[in-house]
Amino acid sequence: MRWRNTARWVCGAPWYISMMPSIQPSVPVRRLIPSVPVLSLAAFRAGPHAGRALPSLLDNAQTRLVTSGRIAIGLALRALGVGAGDLVLVPAYHSPSMIPPVHWCGADVVFYRVLPDTCADLADIQARLAEYPGIKAIMVTHFFGIPQDLAPLRALCDARGIGLLEDCAHCFFGERDGVAVGSSGDYAIGSSMKFFPIHEGGCLVSRRHALDTHLQSAGLGFEAKAALTALETSFSYGRLPALRMLLALPLRARTLLWNAMKAARAPAGATGATGAATTSSLAPSSSDSSFSFDPHWVDKRSSWFSRLTLRLVSHARIVARRRRHYLALHEALQDAPGCRPLFAALPDGACPWVFPLLVDKADAVAERLAQAGVPMVRFGATLWPGVDASVCATSVELGQRMIALPCHQALRSTELAWLIATVRAALQASAKVAA
Ligand SMILES: Cc1ncc(COP(=O)(O)O)c(C=O)c1O
Repeated sequence: MRWRNTARWVCGAPWYISMMPSIQPSVPVRRLIPSVPVLSLAAFRAGPHAGRALPSLLDNAQTRLVTSGRIAIGLALRALGVGAGDLVLVPAYHSPSMIPPVHWCGADVVFYRVLPDTCADLADIQARLAEYPGIKAIMVTHFFGIPQDLAPLRALCDARGIGLLEDCAHCFFGERDGVAVGSSGDYAIGSSMKFFPIHEGGCLVSRRHALDTHLQSAGLGFEAKAALTALETSFSYGRLPALRMLLALPLRARTLLWNAMKAARAPAGATGATGAATTSSLAPSSSDSSFSFDPHWVDKRSSWFSRLTLRLVSHARIVARRRRHYLALHEALQDAPGCRPLFAALPDGACPWVFPLLVDKADAVAERLAQAGVPMVRFGATLWPGVDASVCATSVELGQRMIALPCHQALRSTELAWLIATVRAALQASAKVAA
């Protein structure tokens, strides 16, 4: 999910400042902090506290950089030979964006249970395999960036001749017991835009099979949009101020051109949680909090800007700062009323996507947080239609109680302090009302 700084400067601005799109000095009525990593000069330096970078998905010899994790899921399933009439096992706790790629292959989904710590319930997987002989592949997710032990599942897949797709959308970096994330599955996928300051990006990797996927450029319009949107998102949170001034007029011209092009285009096709999008636009809807899958992007390469950013920014800094921010949130919120961190500890080999907090009165607290401007992900609040407590009560409960807070590398210390204070205040206020 992406938030934009909507605070705008109102009056008294000189003409050249009023020409700048979304980048005017602002007097925010409330604090607005980036929900996703944004670009800054510091992103390119490891910094004094960065230790060893954990293994990353990009370490795999076979790598394809695409525009989203869901596109990579579709490509991985296709590479596994999943087709019409096949079944794919998917965790009952999931992002709805994981399901349309299965349908795109012509296959259907069977859900398996997860344990309260989000690990795959192996006994339930075995029960589903016995119940449905047509299962061709199993998708397993390292939720929130905590690597699971996949050795038992790998052995099960090998014994049964079933494909294993390792979903590392939350886990771009990491290892467990010396095993790098992304190396256990026949194929693994990542969602680079969750970890890097880019507008679009996902990856398909494999350590076990050659990838014969050929990608092509999505065109100049896409390239320009990917770069400018990433930069503008950074500008809107006060990053890269010198570059912001420099690009003010070109960006203004771009906005005028964009609007003219939009007016000339046919209206975009409908997209939804259960449907596949069919019309193309300059960038995929996967970059805009949508759950849909647009086949137009299946054979498209990630933008030049995203690919370059993946190479140039410091991976050690991403890992170190995410871990540091996660631990600060854990420390500050572990004794707050009406909640508990999902995980008791952060394993050494983990690089978290977000900080998952289980909250008793999650809807009331989320409303207070939204009012205060706190970015959060209610991961699992929307599950695929039909996934209810009879399928997996744990998934439903996780989805209802989950408030996941940003811990990404671009948070400044003042932003983190504000985030912690605001979340604590919301939890305390909700506890008082409940008492
Ligand atoms: C667990 C999981 N897998 C896959 C995806 C798909 O990734 P993307 O949004 O890059 O398409 C998501 C997206 O949130 C996810 O949470």
